[in-house]
Amino acid sequence: MIESRVIEHDIIVVGAGLAGTWAALSAGQQGVANIGVLSKIHPLRSHSGAAQGGIAAALGNVRPVAGTGPRGPLEPVPAGDEPPDSWELHMFDTIKGSDWLGDQAAIELMVKEAPEMILAYEHMGCVFSRLPDGRIAQRRFGGHSAPRANYAADYTGHVLLHTIHEQALRHGVRFYSEWYCMDLIVEDNICRGVVALDIRTGALHLMRAKAVFFGTGGYGRAWKITSNAAANTGDGVAIAYNAGVPLMDMEFVQFHPTGLYGKGILMSEACRGEGGYLVNREGRRFMEDYAADKMELAPRDLVSRSEQIEIDEGRGTGADGQGIDLDMTHLGREKIMTRLPQVRELAMNFAGVDIIEGPVPIQPTAHYSMGGIPATVDGQVIADAAGTPVVGFYAAGECACVSVHGANRLGTNSLLGASLFGRRAGTAMAAFVQDGAGLHPVSGDPVARNQARIAGFMDGGGKKESVGQVGAELKETMTRQCGVFRNAEEMGKALEKIKRLQQRFGQAGIMDKSRRFNTDLLGAIETEHLLTFSEVIVASGLARTESRGAHYRVDFPKRDDQEWLKHTMAHKASDGPILSYKPVHIFTDRYPPQERKY
Ligand code: FUM
Repeated sequence: MIESRVIEHDIIVVGAGLAGTWAALSAGQQGVANIGVLSKIHPLRSHSGAAQGGIAAALGNVRPVAGTGPRGPLEPVPAGDEPPDSWELHMFDTIKGSDWLGDQAAIELMVKEAPEMILAYEHMGCVFSRLPDGRIAQRRFGGHSAPRANYAADYTGHVLLHTIHEQALRHGVRFYSEWYCMDLIVEDNICRGVVALDIRTGALHLMRAKAVFFGTGGYGRAWKITSNAAANTGDGVAIAYNAGVPLMDMEFVQFHPTGLYGKGILMSEACRGEGGYLVNREGRRFMEDYAADKMELAPRDLVSRSEQIEIDEGRGTGADGQGIDLDMTHLGREKIMTRLPQVRELAMNFAGVDIIEGPVPIQPTAHYSMGGIPATVDGQVIADAAGTPVVGFYAAGECACVSVHGANRLGTNSLLGASLFGRRAGTAMAAFVQDGAGLHPVSGDPVARNQARIAGFMDGGGKKESVGQVGAELKETMTRQCGVFRNAEEMGKALEKIKRLQQRFGQAGIMDKSRRFNTDLLGAIETEHLLTFSEVIVASGLARTESRGAHYRVDFPKRDDQEWLKHTMAHKASDGPILSYKPVHIFTDRYPPQERKY
């Protein structure tokens, strides 16, 4: 029997990506000494590190060369010239990208603070790519009307994460590497801690804290084709929901237009930002039929739908016609080697294609969750549409819904949002702790409860099938029936299937009964989480009888502001989610809803 302990911290952060690390770092910078960060993988393997193309901020360092048009070459802005970008432009682009579902006060705060966020990274020594005079280089990205993606070749998330991880260590943050949060303890609307599994020993521990932060990332692993790492199983979202916290806007899931064909691996939007083309079987840049102005740099929802139409109408590439070609050969070796080295390596390793020599086949890939745990701009998780706080519980990053991304996120706003709202949450938690928050008692035996859950998976008797089979069928269902295009009939079938899978899961088991590093067990818990939140995604999508951003209903192809300009809130009940709605914050005098055209 492995000993179970009670561990106490002022602040426990779950997830060591940009949101979690910033939350821990900023709380540490405010003087909180006793901070623990749990990460189910090594912290530096967190999925923020896989973000490639850039982090948004309207620095205005570059502009298009005069007379070359919206896709022409960029040049540094000479000192003293008018900056070609502003937070106002960034704000409008984000609102329009969100299909007017983003909360505008939150967006305003994010875009105004963005330049200072970049400087914070700069001052910590982050190795951004540079202009000849040393200023930070910027590139174009989809849906942005100015080049405002600040980047480090195509390793942007990687360098940001390394930069702040070092700083967190410097501030004495304790990292629990390969510890898996299984449960969140909330009683009487007060968060009291978590139950965590030390993956290396198999021991379960009660971890008490004055404040708990979730920066647990997204849930692309509910689909077969995804850019998301194996770890992105939406654990935090499911755990919060199970603890009674509602989930917001879960129907809005982004499909990135350029996942490597058949694998989903990210081929950064920077490929198109640097001038790459999307080409169909006829060798034509088909985006001129869908977004004549923005072309390949239209927002992701629109580009992914356009690709899918080309594929469905028989103009896809590859032997089975299920791909689209991403052609960067005209960019030349030097640009590819300096700006897109990782993309080149991934394409060579996983598709056998050198992008300097030929096009790489791509397809839409499940990429980003706009919805999640409802939280304020200071990371405070809320319990209902009225904004009642879940005391001591904070969240930011992809697992949270602030909501700055609304129905469709613009590329590069995720690294910005995760950094900025993670940092703000850390500051807010520090104030909460320093204002006298205490540890609250925990009733019952949550460790024993989770021990029983583990025993249930391992119990050999009566098990008919493996949890892996259930998980595989879920991914198949979400891919076929809740993808880029949706309709009532298919989502209805998906919902029934998920309910059947949940029942089957209750009877399924795992083969590996060992305690140490039991990846079979982890897979089972993760599959339980996938089944939990997938039901919310499909139920929320079925209820929303309109098309907005990434949620496209072929049976309701128009946006319906009259009925649906509102956020979905899903509360857990015994027979499925109960849905309610919450208004969107709109500055009606400045950014009233408009038709969205590119
Ligand atoms: O395409 C990319 O490089 C991804 C960036 C993002 O999702 O923001």
